Amino acid sequence: MARIIAGVASSHVPAIGAAIDNKQTEEPYWKRVFSGFEKSKQWMADAKPDVAIVVYNDHASAFSVEVVPTFALGCAAEFPPADEGWGPRPVPVVQGHPELASHIAQSVILDEFDLTICNKMEVDHGLTVPMNLLFGSPKAWPCPVIPLAVNVVLYPPPTAHRCYMLGKAIRKAVESYKDDLNVVIFGTGGMSHQISGPRAGLINSKFDKAFLDNLTKDPKKLTRISHLEFMREAGAEGIEMVMWLIMRGALDDKVDEVYRFYTVPASNTAVGHIILENRRRAAGKGRKPAAKAGSKLKRAAARAKVHRVRS
Ligand SMILES: [Fe+2]
Repeated sequence: MARIIAGVASSHVPAIGAAIDNKQTEEPYWKRVFSGFEKSKQWMADAKPDVAIVVYNDHASAFSVEVVPTFALGCAAEFPPADEGWGPRPVPVVQGHPELASHIAQSVILDEFDLTICNKMEVDHGLTVPMNLLFGSPKAWPCPVIPLAVNVVLYPPPTAHRCYMLGKAIRKAVESYKDDLNVVIFGTGGMSHQISGPRAGLINSKFDKAFLDNLTKDPKKLTRISHLEFMREAGAEGIEMVMWLIMRGALDDKVDEVYRFYTVPASNTAVGHIILENRRRAAGKGRKPAAKAGSKLKRAAARAKVHRVRS
């Protein structure tokens, strides 16, 4: 049986990708951002997932405004990088897991979530920036990835509740897969930000921190946030946070928060990051349980008292 061992959420600010690609990560402005992910990379190296499901949104790279699927699952064998504006990032081609992806598609669609199946798809910074933040910049990504693109660009995006319930259906799908696989699921995007209009530059740390708190302790409360409330409190692009609820829905009701980081700004966006572990331990193959890596992280954070929340 496959299992979801943990969920990771991270912003996907495109300027973070540009800072990596232009080797600016040691500059003071960017070091503040990247230092918050150092321990997370260690956590991921210890967790060694067999597959990552990355919930993200496309920025007119794979889909134009002519075709905007609400939920699009990548079932291809590979996903080449592409991007708006700056062009494709110099990152490895993302290898897929067509067999598990097709199994998820079947299970979830029969559970009445009507996914679009993508047998050819390019992936942009929405997916590759969080991967860099958690996996670093290797020559090849360390595990296959199943991309799940969510429409948060063109009204109407899916509701927070719909996203949460989709997460539950994904979990059921993963747990009915025949092979013994440890899976990590990413929720990406956010946190508060608004790119254009009179409120451009909006950041609402109070909303973001409450969202992080409830993501761990009371995710059902977050499923009641309306589109209007997201946009009013977290800016027009803050709606991206519904994607975090797909990740959260795929986890246990009670989870262990093993790490959190928050800083403002990066470009014009609040950067939030959290790692939540399911309490059932990762199994098999003599690997270090992710929970152990989490305990190490917790002890280190308690000692340093720096990595909880910065703003
Ligand atoms: Fe975005």
